[in-house]
Amino acid sequence: MMLSIPDVLNAEQLQQCRAALEGGNWQDGRLTAGHQAVNVKANQQLAQDDPLTQQLGDFILACLAQHPRFMAAALPLKVVPPRFNRYAEGGTYGDHIDNAVFSVPGTPHRIRADLSATLFFSELEEYEGGELVVQDQRIKLPAGHLILYSSGSLHRVEPVTRGARLASFFWVQSLVRQDEQRSVLLELDDSIQALRQQVPDSPELVRLTGIYHNLLRQWTQT
Ligand code: NI
Repeated sequence: MMLSIPDVLNAEQLQQCRAALEGGNWQDGRLTAGHQAVNVKANQQLAQDDPLTQQLGDFILACLAQHPRFMAAALPLKVVPPRFNRYAEGGTYGDHIDNAVFSVPGTPHRIRADLSATLFFSELEEYEGGELVVQDQRIKLPAGHLILYSSGSLHRVEPVTRGARLASFFWVQSLVRQDEQRSVLLELDDSIQALRQQVPDSPELVRLTGIYHNLLRQWTQT
């Protein structure tokens, strides 16, 4: 599954986050890299226990919960608290696959990463390079847009050769673990939403909606 979701944040929300991030206390990203990643990671991050991380992370989670397209695509059960990174001056993150399970600091909770997400805070013209490359697809989205992709995918961030690339990243444990099943549900949901516009009174719409929920019931793990 690979999906870009536009306008997770509006212009005003974006500007507030940007202002806060630019004054952030950025630290060497290698502090949080695992054994594999430490050799390929060269970026900056906000500490996970930085109050700004928690404040902006909560804000992003609230925005996502209100976003129908994100909810329909990810079918989130649990979300790892969002983190923040900054790539500048050649900053890069070489090929890797994300960890399978994340602990939530300060809690006993563990979250399986089914989907990886990057929310972009920098406009396209503000930096050069910095593409997220997921299994040979090159992704660079405008500020406020989000990319969702399977956590099992090999991916990297190309070196940023001019300017700075600010982003948030996090992982989702989905109600539906299998990518293929989640994709079927999203296509069915999209079709139902379109029919709701075209033939709102159709009895078949009721039946199709029932089929959606019955498939979800079969495939959901909580
Ligand atoms: Ni990664």
